[in-house]
Amino acid sequence: MATRAHFSSRIGFILAAAGSAVGLGNIWGFPTQAASNGGAVFLIVYLLMVFALAYPLLVAELTIGRYGNADPITSLRKVWPQQRALMGFVGLAGMIAVSLILSFYAIVAGWLLGYLVAPVLDLLGLTAQAQWLEEFGVERNLILMLVFMWLTVMVVRSGVTDGIEKWSTRLMPVLLLLFVVMVIYILTQDGAWEGLRVYLVPDASHLSPKLIVSAMGQAFFSLSLGVCTMMVYGSYLDKSANLPKTAAQVALLDTGVAFLAGMLILPAMFVAQNHGVVIYDDTGALLASDTLVFSVLPSMFETMGGVGILVSTLFFILMVIAALTSSISMLEVPVSCVIEELNHTRHWAVWWIGGVISVISTVIVFNFESLFGFVITMTTAYAQPIIGMIFAILVGWIWHRDKVLNEIKAGYPELEASLFWRIWPWYVRIVCPVLMLLVFFLQ
Ligand code: PFF
Repeated sequence: MATRAHFSSRIGFILAAAGSAVGLGNIWGFPTQAASNGGAVFLIVYLLMVFALAYPLLVAELTIGRYGNADPITSLRKVWPQQRALMGFVGLAGMIAVSLILSFYAIVAGWLLGYLVAPVLDLLGLTAQAQWLEEFGVERNLILMLVFMWLTVMVVRSGVTDGIEKWSTRLMPVLLLLFVVMVIYILTQDGAWEGLRVYLVPDASHLSPKLIVSAMGQAFFSLSLGVCTMMVYGSYLDKSANLPKTAAQVALLDTGVAFLAGMLILPAMFVAQNHGVVIYDDTGALLASDTLVFSVLPSMFETMGGVGILVSTLFFILMVIAALTSSISMLEVPVSCVIEELNHTRHWAVWWIGGVISVISTVIVFNFESLFGFVITMTTAYAQPIIGMIFAILVGWIWHRDKVLNEIKAGYPELEASLFWRIWPWYVRIVCPVLMLLVFFLQ
């Protein structure tokens, strides 16, 4: 077998994995959930979920992948060779879940493309076309989704180092910087501090089982867990990488961006409210929650006057790229399985799978009301945590402890003496599955 591609540098991997993690989940999912679930309380539970549940599982998933040095199906089979069929089934479940995630993700990312192009068209006097791009509609959703899927296919076709790594390394830092600048700007606007208060001052009355389940799903979604994405990326990582440390860097970066996005979006919502945009209905529920973030942002750019269009263009370009570095990591899961399990070329696999996912996405576009929210809930609140729990059980109960130890030790020679190794093995074995079961029973 030919040698598999690997990330060519450590920072390249961290940025690629962080690129997978940072995406619409941070800028759209997290702020929307926080705004609908009482702000600060959601933030606190979310942070707990990231560090108490998602981080240990991120290490587990990366470790399985790097040990396997293969597509997820083969990697899982290496962990439990006696159960080939069962492991094939788990890999397949991850593959289906991630394809469904991509099918709704591409629709939302398409909206970003619309908001990117619309102000430019407006400037050129093409007001009707600009309006079409910004207004919710079946044709618009369909066309923009297809454009975004095409972009995803083009990057994944180029493979690991040329496609995935290059894009992530270049753009992540610029995105972070722009966020900081925008947060500073929004805080100078009327109404912003009310948004900040909602975001940072907890009101315990919002705590509910539903909030806890949503926060868990959001943490899994944001760290791209439970659908073999991190497993595939781990498989492209070389043995000298320190997995616990790398995972911590990825989790911190991702959480940092989500936190910053909240600092931007929640105040921006209240600033927009100050300008007459209705955000909450009479019962206090968030209005048009799926699309609200995208209508609040343009209204913020409008307050910036002349530079607004520049900032808006830069912002949406970076967001599209952040969404792309996530979508490519999703497409890479089924693509790597088809290349390595069925011996197809990358080119063939990428077009075929991209095509099938576009068809699923089209079905969602045409049945938006009934399918969009449903697919999101099924994949993020159920499939990701459940498959993630299966990975935890595999690492905690099935995999021989010495093998886990040796795999992590390869890039972390002092592992045995570390605090990490004193806690993590039993944590993944007992605490993670129990915590997750508790959350599900709470519901
Ligand atoms: N983590 C991505 C985000 O927050 O936008 C979404 C995601 C990427 C989910 C990859 C799942 C996945 F496999």
